[in-house]
Amino acid sequence: MTTSETVRAAADFLQQKLSEPPELALVLGSGLGGLADQIQDPVVIPYREIPGFPLSTAPGHAGQFVAGRLAGRRVLCMQGRFHYYEGHEMSAIALPVRVIKALGCQALILTNAAGGVNWDFSVGDFMLITDHINFMGSNPLRGANDDAIGPRFCDMTHVYTPALQDKARAVAARQKVTLREGVYLGYMGPSYETPAEIRAFRTLGADAVGMSTVPEAIAASHCGLPVLGLSLITNMAAGMAGKRLDGDEVIQIANQRGPVFQQLVTGIVAEI
Ligand code: HPA
Repeated sequence: MTTSETVRAAADFLQQKLSEPPELALVLGSGLGGLADQIQDPVVIPYREIPGFPLSTAPGHAGQFVAGRLAGRRVLCMQGRFHYYEGHEMSAIALPVRVIKALGCQALILTNAAGGVNWDFSVGDFMLITDHINFMGSNPLRGANDDAIGPRFCDMTHVYTPALQDKARAVAARQKVTLREGVYLGYMGPSYETPAEIRAFRTLGADAVGMSTVPEAIAASHCGLPVLGLSLITNMAAGMAGKRLDGDEVIQIANQRGPVFQQLVTGIVAEI
């Protein structure tokens, strides 16, 4: 369990390092890590220096906070995140989100690379997450509840804040970027899904599938932090494209579409 003391200790540490309190936080998924390089007056804080933080091991993921100004806003970016498949406890994945809330951020933008499940989607599409299905087999709120963080039974009706979704739609329209919408299904990984699983997930109502985001979104809901979720469709999910899935290809597409994705996210940051 993450207690409010663990959260406080990490938040205090970060507060000492930051020159100004952040307004907004972003979790940069595959293809978006480069956004951290566009931050002005960056302050870099490696996760390994933060009390209570786990270490990130996923390929293509740096493990650090980068704080500073983006589109004139005071932002705190997670360059690299913690995944359940790495072996981290769900509560460890929730910790940074709770710290972000404790630092006073008013919104959290969660980004990820995902497989397209909806037949109407194409590789390289962007998807606004309107809801999720937790298929990870666990929940970051499992175990004793710390009432100082949030309630035992957490409402999940509007995990992805409707007002933030509207802002994302408006920015995408202005930038003439097609923004798909749909339900993100969180899968434990690290193996990709089977074609039979993907067919099942489509029947369940999933539009995209990935191995992150869901625990962070649940933790954010729990502590009352508004969330915006954005996926970059790096591949069509297993069995849909008539070829095997390849992690290198996922990273390649993420890097290719990264600049446009970053522009969209920066535009949204300016609006929030
Ligand atoms: N499945 C799960 N996670 C992913 C995928 C996928 O097809 N693509 C990128 N992340």
